[in-house]
Amino acid sequence: MMTAGIACGLFILEEVSPTAMTDGPQNAEVHPPEEAPPEQKANTRRTMSRKTESTIERETAVRGLENVVAGDTRICTVDGGSGSLIYCGYEIRELAAQASFGEAVYLLWHGELPTEAELDTFRARLVGEMRLPSQVIEMIKLSPPSAHPMDLLRTAVSALAMYDPEAEDRSSEACERKAVRLLAQTITIVADMHRVRHRLPVLSADLDMSFGANFLYMLRGKLPTEEEIAAFELLLMLHLEHGFNASTFAARVTASTLSNMHAALTSGLGTLKGRLHGGANERALNIFSKVDGIEEIEDYIDGMLNEGKRVMGFGHRVYKVEDPRARLLRSHSQTLCARADMAELSAIATRVEQVVLDRKGIYPNVDFYSAIVQHALGIPKSYFTAIFACARTAGWLAHIREQYADNRLIRPTSNYTGPIGKTARPIEERS
Ligand code: COA
Repeated sequence: MMTAGIACGLFILEEVSPTAMTDGPQNAEVHPPEEAPPEQKANTRRTMSRKTESTIERETAVRGLENVVAGDTRICTVDGGSGSLIYCGYEIRELAAQASFGEAVYLLWHGELPTEAELDTFRARLVGEMRLPSQVIEMIKLSPPSAHPMDLLRTAVSALAMYDPEAEDRSSEACERKAVRLLAQTITIVADMHRVRHRLPVLSADLDMSFGANFLYMLRGKLPTEEEIAAFELLLMLHLEHGFNASTFAARVTASTLSNMHAALTSGLGTLKGRLHGGANERALNIFSKVDGIEEIEDYIDGMLNEGKRVMGFGHRVYKVEDPRARLLRSHSQTLCARADMAELSAIATRVEQVVLDRKGIYPNVDFYSAIVQHALGIPKSYFTAIFACARTAGWLAHIREQYADNRLIRPTSNYTGPIGKTARPIEERS
């Protein structure tokens, strides 16, 4: 295979074999609407000549950049064939068994898991930054109550740049401080937004609690149980990173122009919101409100499939086996549902899994169990994507700093498919 461009090889010359296009790990993370849009169809490739048919070599644009290697990273890799997700060398199941969300964030930002002393310092710094400039709280208060949490989150993160005296300082030390601040502030925006919209007092972080526990506490206003903290921290950890997915790539493109970290995060947030990406988890819960009991599931799913609809929360562009994140969240969702008197929800989830596997041979993805866990924790559906975004902010921040550290402007090219050689006439002569 020959690729044009190294740091960002977005064109593949015609020597590319069809096998090279489909084999190997795929890092794209795509969530479609219930009915597959045209972009989801086969990855067709257009070929044309540049300038004139005779002078320019023929190139092939890769639709959706699928399988294109667009850069190097030490942060994360996904192997969809074996169902493996690795953060800085550690399989996700290892981390889920041995580490907290805060430890996983530290790992992504420093390349190593923290010692106890390092974690204490890190946690104290993160929790200590969980507050917002008063102007941003005012902005939240002034926003229309109908605004989607992701729109408000994106706008507020963008606004934070104007109140951060270090916004334009790209030194490694300043970027480290800003990463801590921005992750803490992103979470605080989501918690405060929920409180403000329900006319509840905004809560301050408790310096004695973990980062994830504080997030739940500041959002819901009651101290979470150990079980709730464990489930929520795991959920955050599983959403932290997923390679060069669309939003991470968008954040890196913005960072590559040497724009500030706030701008790069804003790009990531805008990209994650789409229903083909992070927006799928809010829809994954719909099925539970559409059936009256377990006995209706089979008919309901058959009906959907017969109409050519997708069951949201199932299947994955990258994972061809079970999504390891869904497997890890499943048992927490069952425990939480049992405690929250939602045993039927859990039973329905199991039945949905069986029927979809039987009919289509596909497994639930992280969104299916993430939606159930968040619902059992009492988090409103419209916040599901914003919670995902808070966790992914830590991943984006790792990528933004990696991009700054070895930057080359990401600037691909395109195949021009329009006309050439036209003559421009004065306006009065145009008909
Ligand atoms: N519901 C029903 N059928 C599905 C399905 C779903 N969620 N996901 C895939 N399929 C089916 C397709 O209809 C197709 O069936 P066919 O071969 O009989 O036509 C087959 O599985 C392959 O589908 P394809 O679109 O080629 O797979 P993909 O790898 O490109 O799709 C997704 C991956 C994510 C686009 C797809 O699984 C999907 O739409 N999922 C629902 C949205 C979602 O939960 N996204 C979150 C991802 S983390």
